[in-house]
Amino acid sequence: MMKKNDQAVALVTGASSGIGEATALRLAKAGYKVFGTSRRGASASLGSFEMLPLDVTSDASVNAVVAEVIRREGRLDLLVNNAGFNVSVGGAEESSIQQARDIFDTNFFGMVRMSLAVVPHMRRQGSGRIINIGSVLGFMAMPYMALYAATKHAIEGYSESLDHELRTMGIRVSVIEPAFMKTAIDANARDADAKLDAYRDVRIAMDARLKEMLDVAEEPDVVADTVLKAASAASPKARYTAGTAAARLRLMHTLLPASLLDAGIRKQLRIA
Ligand SMILES: NC(=O)c1ccc[n+]([C@@H]2O[C@H](COP(=O)([O-])OP(=O)(O)OC[C@H]3O[C@@H](n4cnc5c(N)ncnc54)[C@H](OP(=O)(O)O)[C@@H]3O)[C@@H](O)[C@H]2O)c1
Repeated sequence: MMKKNDQAVALVTGASSGIGEATALRLAKAGYKVFGTSRRGASASLGSFEMLPLDVTSDASVNAVVAEVIRREGRLDLLVNNAGFNVSVGGAEESSIQQARDIFDTNFFGMVRMSLAVVPHMRRQGSGRIINIGSVLGFMAMPYMALYAATKHAIEGYSESLDHELRTMGIRVSVIEPAFMKTAIDANARDADAKLDAYRDVRIAMDARLKEMLDVAEEPDVVADTVLKAASAASPKARYTAGTAAARLRLMHTLLPASLLDAGIRKQLRIA
């Protein structure tokens, strides 16, 4: 598979808003030929990069978008797996098994589907980068976001395994770990589908606390810069925190005894 010209080709899933949009714009500015994706297809286009239709929960949709990029450009140098959503704060037992399957289908299996579709092309090229948007909740958990934290932990494990396997074929895999970022993630969160009165008060309190934290959160550009840094590194790291809050949390996670970290999380969230 020959490169049609010298421009590296990037595919960014979920580029219609937030971190994906900022990343697609940043990569385009850095010289990549960027294809973003949205379930709304071209109607979600922002003008500065092309938008292709994609639902990461569909095998057919995933295979079609990768085939389209390869048909158009003959290669794919960088895949950014960014598409994802959250379930609004609530007790773990306030989500059904179906809701657990749904969030894994997008956040985790969506990333797996995309990886399975692009790796054969990257293997043929003998080069490629896969960057997965994880979260600080992929290395430390937080109460009332159990399913989301579980999907992000799963991304860490899969990515690290994949990076070990593919590096001798010229392909590297990294995870980006942002803390809270100012995006539409909260507005786009799905409501817990099995709410219980027992969690009502804590749900309301946690929701208010999260809104406070999101008000002072960093901008998604911080994550976009980190993606570019990982994509451009000659020897990329397995994981990169994105932003000052995430770097602080990673340091605390590394240095603090588990009991202090546990108490710190509860204090920060103002739970008893
Ligand atoms: N914001 C934060 O605080 C934060 C922190 C750490 C990690 N993250 C991660 O960053 C990523 C982006 O989140 P964001 O904060 O930018 O949220 P966002 O503004 O809600 O953007 C989510 C994006 O994902 C896409 N998407 C959702 N479901 C999809 C599906 N089934 N198939 C294809 N695309 C889908 C959406 O595109 P369409 O609706 O147009 O299809 C949208 O572009 C997520 O993986 C999230 O977990 C966010």
